[in-house]
Amino acid sequence: MLNEDKTQKIHREHEEGIEFAERMLAMIGANDAEAESAFMQIKAYCDLELEQHLQHEEMTLFAPLFRNYKAHQELARQLLQEHGRMRSFARLFDANTPVEEVNEFLELLKAHSITEEEQLLPAISELFSEEEMKAIGDFTPLAKQ
Ligand SMILES: [Fe+2]
Ligand SMILES: [Fe+2]
Repeated sequence: MLNEDKTQKIHREHEEGIEFAERMLAMIGANDAEAESAFMQIKAYCDLELEQHLQHEEMTLFAPLFRNYKAHQELARQLLQEHGRMRSFARLFDANTPVEEVNEFLELLKAHSITEEEQLLPAISELFSEEEMKAIGDFTPLAKQ
């Protein structure tokens, strides 16, 4: 597998995440029925997709950055803090969560994914050793938190 292919899953999940956030923001702004459907889709996303994506990045991207690439620790720290904010939202999210909080989560999901595409992944492909790249491709998520 080529180096670029090892981050393919993460790239794809970012594209899907950005598209998902934009679609949900539009639905929440549309009408009550659309907003209700958006809440159900966000719940499913939080339960089924978010956690494994965050773990994949934390274990195979952030951990090596903290360990071996000091110049990029600040970026990793900021992104890790945003993971914490997304996890807190996902843990408490339900039908009674205020719309402002849901919109804030969706905006964060979008901005965070764009930062990772524009800053994190280019740095990774430049810096990481073959072994570190291999670990990205080989990752299997642990049980959900
Ligand atoms: Fe992330
Ligand atoms: Fe990500």
